[in-house]
Amino acid sequence: MRLFAALDLDGPAREAIVKGQGALRAAVDAELRWVQPPQLHITLVFLGEVSTSQASAAVAALTRPISQFPFELTLAGLGAFPPRGAPRALWIGIRDGLPDVLALHREISSRLREAGVDPGAGALRPHLTIARFKRSRPRDRQVIAQHHEFERAIGQKIDHVTLYQSELSSGPPRYVELARANLTSI
Ligand code: 2AM
Repeated sequence: MRLFAALDLDGPAREAIVKGQGALRAAVDAELRWVQPPQLHITLVFLGEVSTSQASAAVAALTRPISQFPFELTLAGLGAFPPRGAPRALWIGIRDGLPDVLALHREISSRLREAGVDPGAGALRPHLTIARFKRSRPRDRQVIAQHHEFERAIGQKIDHVTLYQSELSSGPPRYVELARANLTSI
């Protein structure tokens, strides 16, 4: 099974993103596959392929509440991966709330490690992917400098982390919720 843990978006944030995607779609001359509203999320930990027993351990680890206050983050600014050359993905960055997101990432990673599930190494670069290039050239990076649809910050309250199973197919992936850990002040 292919698993990942993510931060979800509420209705107003999804609507604001869809609006920005629409404006960008009309303005950008590139072949993009747009992430659909149900699939919009911010990945916190990508577990990749795991066994059934590891999946059960991850579910147990992400069912307990997390001792961290709920917080507000804001999403703003267009970026692309990889940072140089032909871009593969377009994303919106996190403007406020990054230290809280990183603290949450550390907690989830350490829980998964304790449960015997490898959370992966390397620094997290939290982002919200809004589109993927079907094909691209280095000059398609101009999209980032030329368009300002996501300059205005989109607010999102974070009060839980969700563990998803990702089912890939020829169409959009299907994300099935397996577990949820609520942030709590207690
Ligand atoms: P992306 O948004 O940058 O593409 C479900 O596939 C989620 O897991 C996506 O948000 C995706 O990030 C992330 N993901 C997929 N493959 C990954 C990988 N090899 N390393 C890190 N994250 C990955």
